[in-house]
Amino acid sequence: MSELHAVAHKMVEKGKGILAADESTPTCAKRFASINTDSTTESRNFYRNMLFTTEDIEKYISGIILFDETFHQSELSSGIKFPEYLSSKNIIPGIKVDQGLEDFSPYEKLTKGLDGLSERLGKYYALGARFAKWRAVITPGDSIPTNDCILANAKNLAKYAKKCQQANLVPIVEPEVLMDGVHTIDESFEITSRTLKMVFDQLDEHNVSLQGIVLKPNMILSGYECSYQASIEEVAEKTVNCLSAHVPSEVPGIAFLSGGQSDEDATLHLNEMNKYETDWNLTFSYGRALQQSALKAWSGKKENVTDAQEAFIEKAKANSLATVSGL
Ligand code: 13P
Repeated sequence: MSELHAVAHKMVEKGKGILAADESTPTCAKRFASINTDSTTESRNFYRNMLFTTEDIEKYISGIILFDETFHQSELSSGIKFPEYLSSKNIIPGIKVDQGLEDFSPYEKLTKGLDGLSERLGKYYALGARFAKWRAVITPGDSIPTNDCILANAKNLAKYAKKCQQANLVPIVEPEVLMDGVHTIDESFEITSRTLKMVFDQLDEHNVSLQGIVLKPNMILSGYECSYQASIEEVAEKTVNCLSAHVPSEVPGIAFLSGGQSDEDATLHLNEMNKYETDWNLTFSYGRALQQSALKAWSGKKENVTDAQEAFIEKAKANSLATVSGL
């Protein structure tokens, strides 16, 4: 098996999942504001250090997605750079490489970051990264998403994925259909289907090796403001059906984003989906659903570190169990 395929398999190994800790500096500032904590280079280093040094993290977490700043920061007691520190714990270091969103039209977004990408990927590989992430955002609404916007995002995802594989990094391919809004679960199903179809068509067109990617999609949910909220079972069934229709069996694994669901829902949905027989491993690549309770427990205070680490490992363990439908 090539290095790429081996890494992709390891990222989605049963019983483990990915921690998305790649919040950009402005997003981190928002998260820290919710706990009345200043977001500074030091406080962000401290917070990430707290998560990554949690005892037993490597039992449940296969890889961690880092933001550029964190990628160059260090574990605080040893001074070892995070990529090296994580690798030494058998956790694969990953890096967010998209450069955020620009307007595609007044209502839709296109992810940017292809300029100079190959050069950046080479540097990250040399510094220890073994996978990357690129997030495309698809927005449900009145007369949107348009096929033009989905296609433009799918093309960028495929170009990014090809460049990653050429640099020996596994691309996390993340087309996120937002869960915010009044749309129904059936509309989410339709939009996600359309999106996945275009994404896999483009991956094929760009000769991306499907055994060397990890797909990071949304689950198929009722929009958060929709008056009918689908049950855990309905979400699991529709999500598995949608993915089965569009994701080729060569893809080793699917690692879901949590997208603003409650921690409990994110875990229960994953647990329920894993009751189905599927061609690919189904796991998590959560940001908020893994971090929310730890962030709150920490509240920016050194004396709360142990409580925060306990909250974090509890979520990591619950989601690890959900990957084998063990809840
Ligand atoms: P959430 O799980 O908070 O949606 O974050 C995952 C992620 O990496 C979004 O790009």
